[in-house]
Amino acid sequence: MKSWGEALGRSASGHFSRVGRLRRALVFLGVVACTGVALLYWRQQTGNDAHRPLHNSYLGVEPQWSWVCRNDRCERLLASETSILQSLPTCNMLCASTQLWPQPTGPVSLATVAVPVQAGQFSLHIRSTPSRPVTEHLTEAFALFTKDLKSLEKTNSIVRRPDIGPSRDVVVRVAVSPTGSGDPRMRLDTNESYNLTVRPRGNTLHVDISAFSFCGARHGFETLSQLVWLDPYAGSLLAIEAASVEDSPKYGFRGVLLDTARNFFTVSEIIRTIDAMASCKLNTFHWHVSDSQSFPLKLNSVPQLSQYGAYGPGAIYTSEDITTIVKRARLRGIRVLIEIDTPAHIGRAWAWGPSAGLGNLAYCIEVEPWSAYCGEPPCGQLNPRNPHVYDILERMYTEIIQLTGVDDIFHLGGDEVSERCWTQHFNDTDPMDLWLDFTQKALNSLIRANGGKLPEMTLLWSSRLTRSPYLEKLDKKHFGIHVWGASRWPESRAVLDSGFRTILSHVDAWYLDCGFGSWRDSSDGHCGPYRSWQQIYEHRPWAEEIPGFSTGAEPWRIDGGEVCLWTEQLSSGGLDARLWPRAAAVAERLWSDRIEGATADVYLRLDTQRSRLLKKGVGVMPLWPRWCTHNPNACL
Ligand SMILES: *[C@@H]1O[C@H](CO)[C@@H](O)[C@H](O)[C@H]1NC(C)=O
Ligand SMILES: *[C@@H]1O[C@H](CO)[C@@H](O)[C@H](O)[C@H]1NC(C)=O
Ligand SMILES: *[C@@H]1O[C@H](CO)[C@@H](O)[C@H](O)[C@H]1NC(C)=O
Repeated sequence: MKSWGEALGRSASGHFSRVGRLRRALVFLGVVACTGVALLYWRQQTGNDAHRPLHNSYLGVEPQWSWVCRNDRCERLLASETSILQSLPTCNMLCASTQLWPQPTGPVSLATVAVPVQAGQFSLHIRSTPSRPVTEHLTEAFALFTKDLKSLEKTNSIVRRPDIGPSRDVVVRVAVSPTGSGDPRMRLDTNESYNLTVRPRGNTLHVDISAFSFCGARHGFETLSQLVWLDPYAGSLLAIEAASVEDSPKYGFRGVLLDTARNFFTVSEIIRTIDAMASCKLNTFHWHVSDSQSFPLKLNSVPQLSQYGAYGPGAIYTSEDITTIVKRARLRGIRVLIEIDTPAHIGRAWAWGPSAGLGNLAYCIEVEPWSAYCGEPPCGQLNPRNPHVYDILERMYTEIIQLTGVDDIFHLGGDEVSERCWTQHFNDTDPMDLWLDFTQKALNSLIRANGGKLPEMTLLWSSRLTRSPYLEKLDKKHFGIHVWGASRWPESRAVLDSGFRTILSHVDAWYLDCGFGSWRDSSDGHCGPYRSWQQIYEHRPWAEEIPGFSTGAEPWRIDGGEVCLWTEQLSSGGLDARLWPRAAAVAERLWSDRIEGATADVYLRLDTQRSRLLKKGVGVMPLWPRWCTHNPNACL
């Protein structure tokens, strides 16, 4: 038995010596039964070519290929031509690369030996915790972790080969520092760092995870799950026998925006998206829930909004739906940031004011010609002079904060206001003054909704209001700017230079809806071309900061970034392939921020991450033909 110290370290020769030490080759003895049940066993390797796997399979399920690690890469051989039978996932995990996604930012060392494990044999021991809610969240998140392993185990198509030896018990010991955060929620000040070690001891694997928060410990579970995989030839889960990882993210805000207003997405698709996000350690589900086309969110405090605004039954999110999604996200270390964009990007949902005796809550609803009043049909804009509007905003904000439990960040929207619409109704006032006034009043509604407290960061989309001379009128202590303009636009840069907190979603890099052509004949109104995962990955706008470049410039304050999926041309059924693997690319950019671009190592690790997501039922787009997956490095 090699000691722990020797087991660490990555080298192909280490791997081979171990394989040699095992001196085993898989032999196909027979395949039993009409239910696809196969019986396999290892056969002592004698070095004699005559002892090859037998080929007397009844069902044709015998492995066709075997992968061996040579010169730090997995080479594909015909199973019939080699005495070592090793599956691709196992070769990938034990050969040169770490195969973790996102790549940890601290030191990583992984053994090149795998041992069999079973989902039912993982147990949790909480060694320290700062609070009961953290303990409860750890317990539930661990249950979810083992449930995921069980699902992975169930994707197995052959019986566990009896001769791979007994499965190890896995004892997962978690220590969340007692002085760490007692709040299990993902917050702006959450310390997400964690350390993970795996050590073999007798027939047990000891896993130690330490962190300063629930979310950090949860990331530890996620990394652990990436060190466990299904070996399709062994018919068992395997785990790396020894590992040590230190890790923490570069950026604290790592998001995905989904627009559920242009087209509706089901709760199960959203949950699947949240699970996939968690696999990549993304931490913010920015839910652009409403827009001028529809208002699918049923708010008990203002039921008229969905009554007037939803597409219909079956395209509505109830409070129970939101609670289910928020609960799942919470256990996955993800905040659900619901955005109801105002004062523009609203529609029919706000048309009930007159009939309720509240006057016009909005103007320009579905006005024609739409192109004179908004960027895409239909138009609509709130009435900034109707005080009932601010009461309704307060009720909406109160309910959203209650439902999501997110009270340190809020997204007010503020996108693409039509000056012309307001000028038509209020020709005595500069529409920009109306816009500033509306923004201040909406902020006041938010403060009232949040128990008198201003959230630490209240986001506004970048717009004319966030350009000079209006930007200077916004208070940096109150507002953060969600920059969606192109990275080369001077106004995008000006927001950074003026010292506002920012979230970056540059349209030229991180818009996932681009490249699908126009959806209307009246104008181009779309963006192109398609943003590839490599472009998304290689976008590092912060690298351009030149300290002291412009005199008087403030240091940049980038909290993180987000990919945006607007859904004019996407609905249920198409979500996964549009999001993945591109959201995974931004996840590693924001977590690891490796200076190198999309190198060969990135392709290989992302391809492995893709296969993990596929096993979870996420329909990730392929990076390339499957042949390239089968022949790692050959396409690079
Ligand atoms: C997390 O806390 C540790 C210990 O206080 C500190 O060293 C580390 O920098 C923190 N990480 C972040 C991302 O704040
Ligand atoms: C991880 O280990 C490093 C080095 O020992 C230590 O500085 C850091 O505080 C640890 N972090 C956690 C989350 O335990
Ligand atoms: C402003 O609106 C009022 C009432 O709608 C109208 O009488 C007036 O002529 C308008 N002024 C301008 C400059 O358009």
